[in-house]
Amino acid sequence: MEERDLDPDPLRQFERWFEEARASGLAVPEAMALATATAAGGPSVRMVLLKGADERGFAFHTNYESRKGVELTSNPRAALLFHWQPLGRQVRVEGRVERIAVEESEAYFRTRPLDGAPYPYLVLDALVVKCREGSRTVNACVVHAVAVNQEGFRESLGLDVVTSEDGAAWLAFMRSLVARGLSGVKLCTSDAHPGLVDAIAATLPGASWQRCRTHFMRNLLTRVPKSAQSFVATMVRSTFAQPDADTVLEQHARVVEQLGERFPAAAELLAEAAPDLLAFTHFPKEHWRQLWSNNSLERLNKEIRRRTDVVGIFPDRASIVRLVMGFESGPPKGPSCTTVSVGLTASS
Ligand SMILES: Cc1cc2nc3c(=O)[nH]c(=O)nc-3n(C[C@H](O)[C@H](O)[C@H](O)COP(=O)(O)O)c2cc1C
Repeated sequence: MEERDLDPDPLRQFERWFEEARASGLAVPEAMALATATAAGGPSVRMVLLKGADERGFAFHTNYESRKGVELTSNPRAALLFHWQPLGRQVRVEGRVERIAVEESEAYFRTRPLDGAPYPYLVLDALVVKCREGSRTVNACVVHAVAVNQEGFRESLGLDVVTSEDGAAWLAFMRSLVARGLSGVKLCTSDAHPGLVDAIAATLPGASWQRCRTHFMRNLLTRVPKSAQSFVATMVRSTFAQPDADTVLEQHARVVEQLGERFPAAAELLAEAAPDLLAFTHFPKEHWRQLWSNNSLERLNKEIRRRTDVVGIFPDRASIVRLVMGFESGPPKGPSCTTVSVGLTASS
């Protein structure tokens, strides 16, 4: 390549090459190595995903408490490297890293394009909190979508505060995710809220639905006398403790049969729910734990609830979003930690 073929603006040149890398069908063209160093200069490097590039720099997400987050706090100098091997191209970026302002990070999180990568698994949940609206206190509902991306990392995709968890609210929320580029969803996990299930079917036509096993269990146990609930719960749980898909299905059938003798209404519900409750069996076993319930979000909701109890009533909707996002940028929780934005300023 001749130097005169290059755009004089390095960012324009990057954008052109990045588009070509995407168009060439490369698996994850936005993957880049990020090198940081401790204050004493000890280097470290790892892969991250590009979340946007403009005049201000190259954006990526990290947990502020991670090793890179801590290193960048004490030494903001960093380098990035993209390598698009089939095209015979690499791009090197060096500069200072800056945290994006909370409001911007928040706005970015809620509106960022999702068209970078397919998100095979999506988990949806809702939480009701109290919020002030003018002089009134109303119940507001936080709807939340978390995906597991192609690399197996959990990523918060979107969050909205709506007046009530009805079908119209879920449909609008799901449409906004699709409009932002959500694609490639193979399985979506949620409770059986009718408006939500319809919204999933309408917006993600190719995806299977996994009925959250934890919510299902609560529904099922309402059909069983209190004295037998713990025994029935243990029986149903045994379905999920099987080593492979075939034995899950066999155990489910066995439990339906055993329940049928004493608790026909529960047995009927368990039998009817099979396709949705056991949808996870069509996916690799090592992913099952992340797929069969929305417990991961329930844990987040519990933490929000704990903090909400301190705050009591939120002064407005924006403060709810801020609290949830604040929680998300908390300490790392293994490879599935959620991330927050940091901008990198490029220099040639
Ligand atoms: C392809 C790929 C993309 C990744 N993207 C991110 C990312 O965007 N943000 C992130 O924090 N970690 C990402 N990771 C994980 C990091 O490489 C790293 O393991 C993790 O963030 C911990 O790094 P640290 O301890 O140096 O902070 C990615 C890993 C791979 C293989």
